[in-house]
Amino acid sequence: MYEMRLAVPVRLLCTKPGKVVGNEFNKLIDHYSKFNPSPLSIKQFLDFGERANPAESFAFLRKEVPVRLANIMKEIELLPPQLLKMPSVRLVTSWYQRSFMEIAEFDKLHKGTPTDSVLSDFTDTLTRVRNRHNTVVQTMAEGVLELKQQHKSDVSSEHTIQYFLDRFYMSRISIRMLINQHTSLFGVQERPAGNGRQVGVIDPHCDITSVCLDAYENAKFLCDQYYLTSPNMILKCIPEEPRIRIVYVPSHLYHILFELLKNAMRAVVEHHGTEADLPDLRVLIVEGKEDITIKLSDLGGGIPRSASDLLFQYMYSTAPEPSSTNSAPLAGYGYGLPISRLYAKYLHGDLTVTSMEGYGTDAHVFIKAISKDSHEKLPIFNKTSSKHYNMVIGSNDWSSPISGERKILSSGIIEKIRSIPCA
Ligand SMILES: Nc1ncnc2c1ncn2[C@@H]1O[C@H](COP(=O)(O)OP(=O)(O)OP(=O)(O)O)[C@@H](O)[C@H]1O
Ligand SMILES: [Mg+2]
Repeated sequence: MYEMRLAVPVRLLCTKPGKVVGNEFNKLIDHYSKFNPSPLSIKQFLDFGERANPAESFAFLRKEVPVRLANIMKEIELLPPQLLKMPSVRLVTSWYQRSFMEIAEFDKLHKGTPTDSVLSDFTDTLTRVRNRHNTVVQTMAEGVLELKQQHKSDVSSEHTIQYFLDRFYMSRISIRMLINQHTSLFGVQERPAGNGRQVGVIDPHCDITSVCLDAYENAKFLCDQYYLTSPNMILKCIPEEPRIRIVYVPSHLYHILFELLKNAMRAVVEHHGTEADLPDLRVLIVEGKEDITIKLSDLGGGIPRSASDLLFQYMYSTAPEPSSTNSAPLAGYGYGLPISRLYAKYLHGDLTVTSMEGYGTDAHVFIKAISKDSHEKLPIFNKTSSKHYNMVIGSNDWSSPISGERKILSSGIIEKIRSIPCA
């Protein structure tokens, strides 16, 4: 199952995570990063979940999780040094190192058939790792903000950070999927929430309409709290009957739709004002042979074309920076769209946003209709990915029509975009 790019004998030189010395730790990371991660299809997840054999899952994960961690940790090493020095980034890095060691330890010590006690320790370790990493997205976002406050941004490092964060968060989504699947199948307390037909975190008959209605209710709740008003939603499915169902991870679909609905609601209310009769949001769900497409349309005034390239940039938000006391803001770090697109891309779907400034915005979510086509999309550390970290971006090889553009290139996209008013 694993593709070995270069065979290197591994010898774990530590007995306790945390006690490992730098050199030995680096050797281990080097070793595991030489394996390519093994992408699974949603069908494989499902078939495996239905067999539900904990020893088989253990044998796969004790190696696959360290491989996925090591692949992304090698990329962390290539980040701009000033970013690596930021306290929040150091904290995230330390979590990764610790979690890597804790799981690699099982790969070292338990090669054969695991006892029940090893299996139970393993499940506990995975749960601990998942909890440790709960706040990785916010903490990393803080790290990038710390960098912004202390250093002038430049186009090259913004490009590097964007490239890295897409891969880093995709890797995180994939590792959490593996962990959640194992703990919900084999953990003592965890049984999947919801309808009882779920296999781990996968719903073989995920009802898109009901996920969408759920996301709408919760986005509406936030919107009402913040603005004391919210738009209605009109939902249409083609075909109308039977209900469109897919093999999918409902929590991923919920995340995407919740973020899109929050954005649409904010745009509509801010564009029309809280006193106005607000135009409806429209959702259209269409089942094709290859793709299922969900379109969300709003009349929230749209986004200028100059900003549309920046929508999926981490750090692009027209909302005020979130405060630590405001735990569930309607808009915050500017991670809503980029992370939602990663969730869609994780199983080879996609998310696009098109807009008509002065009118409104359409967001399209694409999902593979056939479960065997929905494979995990995973970042791989290799020469090609390494090259991206050394690329110099922003050379002035095209003329700029407006004198202000030079200023934008030197001061960075973040400042530019902060000055664009919300629709
Ligand atoms: N439907 C929309 N209509 C108008 N502008 C939009 C729409 N969706 C997104 N935007 C613009 O794109 C920006 C980025 O959206 P994104 O969801 O990524 O971040 P955010 O909403 O600012 O913060 P959060 O991280 O909480 O989602 C928003 O701040 C907003 O200016
Ligand atoms: Mg948002």
